[in-house]
Amino acid sequence: MQHTSNSTNSASPPDLMALMSANVKLSSLIHSFRLTTQYGGATSGSFGVRGFISEVHGRDLSEKTHLVSRSLEALKEGGVRRVHMIMQSGGDLESVAKSAGFKPCPGESLFQRVLDTKPMPGEALSPGFTLRDGTLHDLFTISTKLTHVPELAFQGWEMLLIGRQLGRQDRYFKVIEHHKEIVGVSIGGLCGDRGTISHTWVAPEHRNHKLGRALSEASLTSLYDGGARIVHLMTTPGNEIAERFWERQGFVRETRHQFLEIDI
Ligand SMILES: CC(C)(COP(=O)(O)OP(=O)(O)OC[C@H]1O[C@@H](n2cnc3c(N)ncnc32)[C@H](O)[C@@H]1OP(=O)(O)O)[C@@H](O)C(=O)NCCC(=O)NCCS
Repeated sequence: MQHTSNSTNSASPPDLMALMSANVKLSSLIHSFRLTTQYGGATSGSFGVRGFISEVHGRDLSEKTHLVSRSLEALKEGGVRRVHMIMQSGGDLESVAKSAGFKPCPGESLFQRVLDTKPMPGEALSPGFTLRDGTLHDLFTISTKLTHVPELAFQGWEMLLIGRQLGRQDRYFKVIEHHKEIVGVSIGGLCGDRGTISHTWVAPEHRNHKLGRALSEASLTSLYDGGARIVHLMTTPGNEIAERFWERQGFVRETRHQFLEIDI
């Protein structure tokens, strides 16, 4: 579903908040929404725990910045607390993003994989390991642990958002269980044909046994089935293990674009 609001008043800044409350019910951020003024607009949405703003068009920087600010308010209303914008360096959009408070993320790397075909299922897991959809109980069990994994930048508030979105077709939460313990997790979602893998974690004592690969394959299959045809993810600065891991999963480092982020 695409939410759209329109304004025809060009004399003064459009009251987008009023339009949003009238026309755009964002509490579940079902897919994406578009804020439109007479001269421009912005497309925004959520991949789950992360929001995005793209395609910002307007007469001048101030109108574009206004649209970005309104989009941030709408995303916040929907429960999103971190938002990304991906763009080419040095362009108009970079100035707009920075005026709205977005900051670069030095050292973080952006990876991308095109999903033109459905990912092939990989090797079966070793006996005793089960890969399945996660439950609310799994989420409560694992969340505190994830907040202490420095490579993940997982924040406590994400648990609430992920919990609220469990079961949605455009979100996934996969776990690997071993002897009733959660030893692997992958969390992500999609918006239209774009997907993201927000967090992937394997318990230290089980690393290098292909659990990460199994989680990646299950996640990509879920994203593909939901309609994603391109998947992005980001790695934290200096996480060379993750960079190598994602390259082995068919991702390529995206250097033509940079991404900026903001916590709201
Ligand atoms: C990244 C992570 C999920 C990998 O999980 P894993 O179960 O150990 O990975 P796998 O055993 O499935 O490895 C798959 C591939 O990644 C590569 N890889 C994994 N760990 C590696 C390491 N320590 N050094 C070099 N390469 C490594 C392997 O080369 C392997 O390639 P192969 O197909 O040739 O065997 C895990 O190390 C982890 O949880 N790290 C901490 C959290 C994190 O950084 N998450 C990613 C955030 S973006």
